[in-house]
This record gives sequence, C-alpha cells and structure tokens, in this order.
Amino acid sequence: MTPNDIDLVQSSFAKVAPIDDETGVLFYERLFEIAPQFRPFFRGDIDEQGRMFMSMLTVAVNGLATFDSIRPALSELAIRHAGYGVKPEHYAPVGAALIWILDQSLGDDFTDEVRNAWLAVYDALSGVMIEAAYGSGNAG
Ligand code: HEM
Repeated sequence: MTPNDIDLVQSSFAKVAPIDDETGVLFYERLFEIAPQFRPFFRGDIDEQGRMFMSMLTVAVNGLATFDSIRPALSELAIRHAGYGVKPEHYAPVGAALIWILDQSLGDDFTDEVRNAWLAVYDALSGVMIEAAYGSGNAG
C-alpha cells in the first residue's frame, strides 16, 4: 500500500461516501449473492449492518495515512468477528463484494489504477485483521 494508493482510495471513496447508505445495502446484497453461506451469520437488520460496515470503512479509509492510529480499532473489530464465527478465508469474498460495489458506484472513475489501489488497501486492512484475530500463522 503506497502513498499513491492511499490518495486514490481516499479521493475515490469521497465520491462514494454521499450515497453510503445505499452502498452498504448493495454491498450485502452482492455478498449474499456470491457467498450465500454467509447469510445466517447476520442476525440483525441489513440496512443497519450496511451503515455500520460503511462507517467503519470510512474510519479506516480516513486513517490510512496514519495506519498505526487505526490498528487498535481494526484489531478489536477482527477479534469480535472471530466471535461471530468469521474465518480467515471469509475475508476474500468480502473484499470481492467491496470491489464490486465500488465498481458499480464509481463507474468510469473506477480505473484499473483505482481498483489496484483498493485491492492493496483491502489487503492491508484484512491482513491486520486476520493477524490480530488468528495470529500470523507461525505461532503454531
Ligand atoms: C474490512 C472488513 C470488515 C469490516 C470493516 C467489517 C465491519 C463490520 C462492523 C462495523 C460490524 C458491526 C459489529 C462490530 O463492530 O463488531 C460488523 C459485523 C459483522 N460482520 Fe463484518 N466487517 C468486515 C469483514 C467481515 C467479514 C470478512 C465477514 C465474514 C462473513 C464479516 C461478517 C460480519 C458478521 C457476521 C457481523 C455480525 C452480524 C450480526 O451480529 O448480525 N465481516 N462488521
């Protein structure tokens, strides 16, 4: 994740943010389409869930340049997720649903460069979360 990735993610996300309620719902619709096995994990209202996801994503995106400032919140989020039954391999389909809604929301503005920047950022965020909740893989 380079400083240029961070700039591209922040400037593209600023174009999505005004419609974030709608985007949050669209995100879960897409997620359950590509990963229907996740549906039973979500017990609450999906509109509310969409808002929570988008607001956490906003905090993370805003804090990318000072990554250490968002690390504790991401770690706690990840540990709660392990408690919801989330496994490390579940992060990839969630990333795919995120890329899909960005593509839908940004249209022509979702260039290859912007897509690659988001892939790098999601990799960094999910990497921190997976390590916090399940360890780095070399701890036995
Ligand atoms: C960057 C990645 C993710 C972000 C930002 C995120 C964000 C959130 C937020 C803010 C909540 C509200 C509850 C809380 O804060 O603990 C939540 C709940 C939840 N998330 Fe995530 N999440 C991510 C990845 C995932 C993944 C990979 C899964 C796997 C399927 C998942 C499944 C869930 C479930 C099952 C709940 C609880 C739903 C319920 O209690 O009904 N999330 N997520």
